[in-house]
Order: sequence, then C-alpha cells, then structure tokens
Amino acid sequence: MEIKAVTGDLTVIKAGAVIVNYFEGAKRPEGDAAAVDKATDGAISRLIKQGDIKGKLNEVTLLHSPGKLPASRVAVVGLGKKKELNINKVRSAIAETCRYLRGKSVTSLATGVQGAGINGIKIEDAAQALTEGAILGLYKFRRYITKKENNNGEINEFTIVGQPKATLSKAITRGRILAEAADWARDMVNEPGNNMTPTHMAEAARQLAKEYELKIEVLDKARMVKLGMGGLLGVSQGSQQPPKFIILSYKGSNSDKVDVALVGKGITFDSGGISIKPSERMSEMKGDMAGGASVMATLIALARIKPKINVTALVPATENLPSGTALKPGDIIKAMNGKTIEVLNTDAEGRLILADGLSYAKKLNARAIIDVATLTGACMVALGNICTGAFSNNQELTDKVIAAGNEVGEYIWQLPMYDEYKEQLKSDIADIKNIGGRYGGAITAAKFLAEFINDTPWVHLDIAGTYDTDKEKGYQVKGATGVPVRTLVNLILSMAKK
Ligand code: BES
Ligand code: ZN
Ligand code: ZN
Repeated sequence: MEIKAVTGDLTVIKAGAVIVNYFEGAKRPEGDAAAVDKATDGAISRLIKQGDIKGKLNEVTLLHSPGKLPASRVAVVGLGKKKELNINKVRSAIAETCRYLRGKSVTSLATGVQGAGINGIKIEDAAQALTEGAILGLYKFRRYITKKENNNGEINEFTIVGQPKATLSKAITRGRILAEAADWARDMVNEPGNNMTPTHMAEAARQLAKEYELKIEVLDKARMVKLGMGGLLGVSQGSQQPPKFIILSYKGSNSDKVDVALVGKGITFDSGGISIKPSERMSEMKGDMAGGASVMATLIALARIKPKINVTALVPATENLPSGTALKPGDIIKAMNGKTIEVLNTDAEGRLILADGLSYAKKLNARAIIDVATLTGACMVALGNICTGAFSNNQELTDKVIAAGNEVGEYIWQLPMYDEYKEQLKSDIADIKNIGGRYGGAITAAKFLAEFINDTPWVHLDIAGTYDTDKEKGYQVKGATGVPVRTLVNLILSMAKK
C-alpha cells in the first residue's frame, strides 16, 4: 500500500473514497466534514439530522456518488465524544474504516489528518497513527489459504491530505516502520509450529541480519553445552528439533557498550512437556515464541530508523515436547549462571530458558535488560487481554516502559515484586524450584527470573494475555497482535534521544 502526504483540499481529491469524521453529540459537521458536506449539498448534515450518523466511535457511514466531489464515495467515521478523543482512538477508527472500505472493494482512500489539534494531539502524531492504523488494521495472514480471495482488490493507495507536507511525510515513514515491524512479528507468531521451529526462527534472524545489516550469531547445541545452558538444553531434550540461541545486534552508537539487551521467549511450541497441557486450545501454544519474535522485530524498526544506541536481542529457542528423553518433574538442572533448579512442572519451561537468556544478557554488561515472554496463564487471569504485565527491580525503567506503551496504545500494568513472594520458590534440594504454587503465579514467575538478574535495571513483560486476540477490533485482527513491538521501539527511541 502506497501511503503519501498531499497538501490541498480533501474535496478536490480523486479517490475511491474520502474519509471524514464526526463527533458524537456535535451540532454539525466540522473541518473536512463541513467542506465535504457543503460540496454534497448537505448530504452529511441530513444523515446526522435523520439519526443515521451518530458519531459513535468506529461507526462508519458510506455516501455514494457524492454531488460535486471527484471522489466516488464519502465515508463518515465516528470518533466518539470530542473531549475523549486520543491518539489510540484515531488509530483504531481509521483501521475500522479501512477494513470496511476494503469490504466494499474500494482500492484508494484519502483522509485529512484526523484528530490533529484536538486535545493537544500533534499533527505528526495523528499522521503516524493514521498510517499505523491503516497498515495494522488491513493486516491478513492468508499464506495457507489456497482459495483465491473473493474480492476486487486491496487498498493500494492511502493519501493523507494536510500540511506541512514534510512533517506529514516523516510521520508516515515512522508509522510505516513501526506497523511493518509489528506485522513482521505477527507473521512469525501466526505461522504454525511445523513451519516455525527453532531452526526456522534462526533462519528468519539470519535473513533479517542480511537485509538490515544487523550482526547475527546463532549458538548451536555444542556451544550451549560449553556455556552450561542447562535451562535451554533441559527444555529442548524432549524434542527432535535442535535448540537455537539467537543473538541479533543493532549497533547505532560509536561506543562498544550494549545499551539495551532484549530477551525474548522462543518456545516454538509449548505442549507442556511431561506435565502435558489439556488438548483444548493447546494449538495456541504455537505462539509461545511471541516474545522472541517481538524482540527480533524491534531490531528491524531500529535498523530502519537508525537511532544512536546499541541494542542486542537474545532469543533462546526450542520446542517443549514430551518424549522418552524429555525433562521429568523432579529433575534438577543447572542454569548458565550456576544456579540449580528443581523442575517440578515441565510446563513452567519459559523461565528455564529465560534463566539462560538472562544470564547471557548479564554477561553482555548491558545497561538495561528487558525480557518479553508469554510466561504465565496467571498473568492473563490477573490482567485479561488488555494489559501486559510488568515486573521489575527498577522503578525508573519501569515508568519509561509503561509510558512508552501508553503512547502507542499498548497498555502495561505493573505488578508487585515484594521479597516475600520468593519464599514460594524455596526448594528443599536445589537452589530454587520452578513453580511457586497456586497463587500469585505471574509474580512468582517474575521472582524466579529476578534470580538471574541481580541489580541490572530490568523489566520483565508478561504478554501471555496480549500476544494474540480472538476478536477483530480497531487495529487488531484475529491472531497475533504484534505486542509489544511498538512499545519497545518507542522506548528505545526515547532512550536514544537522551
Ligand atoms: N506458555 C505458557 C503460558 C501461557 C498460557 C501463555 C496461556 C499464553 C497463554 C507457559 O509456559 C505455561 O505453561 N505456564 C504455566 C506455569 C505453571 C505450570 C506454573 C501456566 O501458566 O499454567
Ligand atoms: Zn508451559
Ligand atoms: Zn510456555
């Protein structure tokens, strides 16, 4: 889809549809909508008066052959109450509008810079959100559907009318980079387990390295043995697929120091292992590498934007399967940092591979470590699918992460890390056990991870509830969400500025 900025007047644009908006409870159409209303002899005002257009958030109304306009259609999108408008609603509303118009076989769209100037929304932020919303909202994963699509085409032209053009063009580029990185992560996560093994993940990383000039290293089993990565090796021993430890680096600053290490859980399928999961919904566990995909995707965006900062992404990748060679409940393994772990449930495997991922990150001497993992069902129970859980040893970094998430509409909520929770992880015969009992499961999982961190500023993001969705809503479509790619990119860009 080509997305471009154009200066001028929306009413003279030739397009399959021009998009204008209307606020709930407004007396009359305003801005672009007023101009279009005038050019159509009051077609919009009539529909408002009749009650067809109410302005409810994401409501789309289509007008055909609109009077003197060169455009073939006008779409009026509701933005809800004006004083409640924010950038997330702009992103969602344009996504819904784009999907609606694609359903009507419209292939070219034009819109003003919706939301700009309202409640302090900056014009560049609005243009970026429109771009992100259009790209994310129109995302489809059709690779495995052999039947040709029953439509008259895709939206291939999206024009944002406004000024200054240079500002808008820059915002469009930024929005495109963020949305495309998130879509790359979505593709990885939606891919079925038979085509997204640890080897496939490593191959994808190699391709990124080639395309975006990133540094790549993939550790194989022999190296893992040498490094003592007992967590990753332990989880992988039930699978026929060889484990991989992916190290992908973006270097934007002159210093040799790693500013941020990102660690992503790369379980390409989580059956639970010997502590096997119930078969219902087990298929969703093909997405248990979403954290790994998100940290790799973040580096794509960084390589395209080129901020002055050094970031390394680490992805321990393996399947978690039961077999005659699999890890058994009661087994004791030793992580890369020398700590012994009593494995009482083989389905709590994420923390075992992250133990090695975080130990490796520590060795890089990174200034900050952020890990992303579909770690616990308990986090989903606590926060539902609206918020990602955050757990940390450093409030300053946590505040930055949460703020970065809010700015891009990926909500993050912090949970406590009181030392008392650690007692639940006490083992009688090893340094620590890998489950902490029935209650506070998301927190005890985070306390387990903290054992491999000590005092490096660190935030753990549990995306078990947010990595996928079964609803099409706003800029999200069914399947992988791409969370938290845009948060991580936004965060790292703001860290690079300082
Ligand atoms: N991958 C799962 C967590 C998960 C659940 C992610 C649902 C996404 C959606 C993780 O490996 C797991 O199985 N965790 C166990 C931990 C328990 C055994 C302590 C869980 O949450 O039940
Ligand atoms: Zn598991
Ligand atoms: Zn898992």
